[in-house]
Amino acid sequence: MQQFFEIEKVSEGKARAGHLYTDHGRIETPIFMPVGTVASVKTVHQHELKDDIKAQIILGNTYHLYLRPGMEVMQNAGGLHKFMNWDLPILTDSGGYQVFSLAKTRKMSEEGVKFKSHIDGSFHMFSPEKSMEIQRQIGADIFMAFDECTPYPCDYRLAKKSMNLTHRWLKRCITWCNENEELYGYKQHLFPIVQGSCYSDLRKISAEVIAESNCVGNAIGGLSVGEPEDEMYRITDEVTDFLPKDKPRYLMGVGTPWNILETIGLGIDMLDCVMPTRNARNGMLFTWNGVMNMKNEKWKQDFSPLDEFGTSYVDAEYSKAYVRHLFISREYLGKQIASIHNLAFYLDLVKVAREHILKGDFYEWKKSIVPILKQRL
Ligand code: GUN
Repeated sequence: MQQFFEIEKVSEGKARAGHLYTDHGRIETPIFMPVGTVASVKTVHQHELKDDIKAQIILGNTYHLYLRPGMEVMQNAGGLHKFMNWDLPILTDSGGYQVFSLAKTRKMSEEGVKFKSHIDGSFHMFSPEKSMEIQRQIGADIFMAFDECTPYPCDYRLAKKSMNLTHRWLKRCITWCNENEELYGYKQHLFPIVQGSCYSDLRKISAEVIAESNCVGNAIGGLSVGEPEDEMYRITDEVTDFLPKDKPRYLMGVGTPWNILETIGLGIDMLDCVMPTRNARNGMLFTWNGVMNMKNEKWKQDFSPLDEFGTSYVDAEYSKAYVRHLFISREYLGKQIASIHNLAFYLDLVKVAREHILKGDFYEWKKSIVPILKQRL
């Protein structure tokens, strides 16, 4: 049987370049995964995602897809790949995190979370078993264990209690998966999630419990929730030391271009974030020269290409002045162009990072490029 993860090269530090193998294709790591919460990467067509942005895997969300269009539609479509006409790999998040950030009211118990839909106010219950069942019906190649993500800051007792609940829920997720088969004839891989807030001792315990569960890949959650960047790096550094070296490590919900390079440097292989698409819709563009606010007066008469180092066609074909005009006029096309640009940039960023890992000069390169990426243009 084909191995799930193969490491091609480990740099002199902790950064790695490798490949993930799924039944919907091979993924080069480190990789950034565009977020397609409701079976749509906002404002971007599937063929743009594949051909222009060069996305290799995208994300979907259990919480949203369960509420709308619902699991009857999903199963009758034959799963999310067919429903949205995306034949490359998909990863789904398990729902817990979204219940906490979106549901109107929620009630936690050992059993799971009762919540009120943000769409129509109806009541629902997610348990570890229910989350697994829904994620089987969605049919993602990689799916996440049902966890509780603690807010920041979080007092020690609460963080410990929540982490232990996440560990008990993981056992239930694994039991359910062992007793229930996949629906669509291809393999689905479960990733458990390390929690423990910003407490080193809790993170160590959690990483050990998660490693012991012996899944094919592991994730780090509970970060990028308002903690200072240095804390996020410190915890990521500590946790990657305790997670198995031969399995992929997914850092959930991170982050800016510099967060991505720094955490790749700490041994992260997979990342996702709404930032490139959300910020694009507000006119913020990430580039190899720094961050641009497209609404700025400064671009009004600048007819040079949107991004001279950009890899997507929008970068060469449209001018800064034109894209500024679209944002000032509140045209949808501005959001579309900016989203394509930002996602193509994020995919280029991890591709170039990978090339430097293979070449052996990743850390020198990162040190020189990070201050440039942070510049405000
Ligand atoms: N997305 C970002 N952070 C988290 C987390 O801690 N848990 C889950 N399930 N999803 C996330």
